[in-house]
Amino acid sequence: MRVFITGAGGYIGGTVAARLMARGHRVTGLARSSEKAEQLRNAGIEPVIGSLDDARVLADVARRTDAVINAADSDHRAAVEALIEALAGSGKPLLHTSGISILGDNAGGEPGGRIFTEDTPLDPAPEKLPRVAIDRLVRDAAARNVRSVVLCNPLIYGRGLGLHPDSVQIPALAERARRSGAASYIGRGLNVWSHAHVEDVADLYLLALERAEAGSFYFVENGEASFREIVEALASALRLGPARSCAVDEAIAAWGYQRAVFSLGSNCRVRAERARRELGWRPKHSSVVDWIGQALAVPD
Ligand SMILES: NC(=O)c1ccc[n+]([C@@H]2O[C@H](COP(=O)([O-])OP(=O)(O)OC[C@H]3O[C@@H](n4cnc5c(N)ncnc54)[C@H](OP(=O)(O)O)[C@@H]3O)[C@@H](O)[C@H]2O)c1
Repeated sequence: MRVFITGAGGYIGGTVAARLMARGHRVTGLARSSEKAEQLRNAGIEPVIGSLDDARVLADVARRTDAVINAADSDHRAAVEALIEALAGSGKPLLHTSGISILGDNAGGEPGGRIFTEDTPLDPAPEKLPRVAIDRLVRDAAARNVRSVVLCNPLIYGRGLGLHPDSVQIPALAERARRSGAASYIGRGLNVWSHAHVEDVADLYLLALERAEAGSFYFVENGEASFREIVEALASALRLGPARSCAVDEAIAAWGYQRAVFSLGSNCRVRAERARRELGWRPKHSSVVDWIGQALAVPD
């Protein structure tokens, strides 16, 4: 199969591309520069120069490949619209990468009891409505004979297999902790996020490509941890001394509003029973805290 991946040079898309190529599939990837195109080519991916704003490029490539995986940006509506237009009537798979910050509450580091399955009604914050609407658009493309699937990802950890091996999440927290000399969580840090290892995530994309039904939506998850547990594990691995609490305003100044409120200080808890039951997903890694201790530990 030839698969078109937007974000093939990124953390999620690059790992999915590597897994696909290991199974003998061919991958075409979108590249924003000739330099990135060369890097993709060296990684065995056929590059196509363009961006998510180039509707015609997206459409051309989507029409001449067997499947499309949109892994560049969960929030780029125009790209999703262009891909759906191109694939309408084809029956081809379109996998879209979303994220569970659509569930984020304004908890400021306090715990939250709600755990979502795919059957739990959503009650998104106004800031998250555009992403939820894109997910809906993707699912509704089933009515236009696109085998469309939304994969709603949690905090992803682990080393990616592509050109960009680091996630935007744990490595960024680690980098800021190294620079400032202290790892910090918001408030009491008792807010909880679900998580999954990037290789398990990629395995789920491959299963969804093979067997997910048109219009389906899957949460992705294998385990959860509070931010305090994550940050304390980072502080210990990096030998930084005790993790500390910071106020929401301090976190917003450091990370920006969206990141501080909907990622670092919120609760986003899901269960991926449907992926296990319907697609036979069997994730192998279950603890971000263990991974931090093993992968990020600074030697004596
Ligand atoms: N990582 C996570 O834990 C996680 C969890 C849930 C949801 N998500 C969402 O999933 C998406 C991908 O995440 P990621 O971690 O894989 O990010 P990433 O490592 O930054 O990869 C994104 C890739 O997409 C490309 N890209 C971005 N915007 C583009 C555009 N306008 N045109 C063409 N290419 C573009 C980037 O190209 P360049 O190399 O040229 O920059 C990069 O190769 C993001 O929207 C993210 O919010 C991520």
